[in-house]
Amino acid sequence: MSKKYVIANFKMNKLDAEVGNYVDELKEKVKDMDLEIILSVPFVSIKTAVWHAQGTNISIAGQNLNENDFGAFTGEINAEMLCAVGANAVLVGHSERRNHFKETDVVINKKIMKGLRSGLLSVLCVGETLFDKKNNLTTQVLQKQITESLNSIYANELSHIVIAYEPVWAIGTGVIASKEEISNAIKTIRSLLVDLYDEKIASEVKVIYGGSINEKNVKDISSISNIDGVLVGGASLDVDKFYKIACAFNTEKKTKKKTKSEQKSK
Ligand code: PGA
Repeated sequence: MSKKYVIANFKMNKLDAEVGNYVDELKEKVKDMDLEIILSVPFVSIKTAVWHAQGTNISIAGQNLNENDFGAFTGEINAEMLCAVGANAVLVGHSERRNHFKETDVVINKKIMKGLRSGLLSVLCVGETLFDKKNNLTTQVLQKQITESLNSIYANELSHIVIAYEPVWAIGTGVIASKEEISNAIKTIRSLLVDLYDEKIASEVKVIYGGSINEKNVKDISSISNIDGVLVGGASLDVDKFYKIACAFNTEKKTKKKTKSEQKSK
């Protein structure tokens, strides 16, 4: 069974020293977990986070990247810069970027391309607004976002992309999508991937959920059969809460049991 993803998004929170302390606390708690644990930290703390996470099962991500190589783009950071300080993943197309910074699917596509070329795992965020949901436009919105964001991306590159279904109305609102809504959206995303690629690819791509996940509701969400993990904003700022969220997705105990019984049967 492949590993589940538990990804934190600190957004514009935590000072550099706080990020270092957070990683130190978290790494002890999660050291035996069989998960892809990724912390998306502010740019200025990537190096600190990478240093504290050395030799652990925690990876560090940026929260955005610029789609250009190098040049006159004051205030921007590109894929190579992220890699050079040890990040190995990046969030792309988060709804706050789409909303506040007017990122379009075309730009998001360019960002994913740059991420892929530099060897970064791209966490592509998609999802409908409340208006879209009320007007039954969810499938249409996902179709546009996925099709345009993955334009010209080859099937063999999809193993470097995680798709995060994050309905905008659920982000930071305390209103979580229902299990049925999440499961249906994941099915929709996979069927779009069947159209764009094929059945095999569509079943292999990791699709996770984000939006008001916390330590209390995560157990329920982790029981959704087709979910590959979660992207956590607010609740990830508290290391204990984030640890509890990771526990809900950890398959380590099952793996251990299997190994023991396998040993006995030998
Ligand atoms: P939230 O944010 O968990 O605070 O709703 C999720 C996100 O923005 O990725």
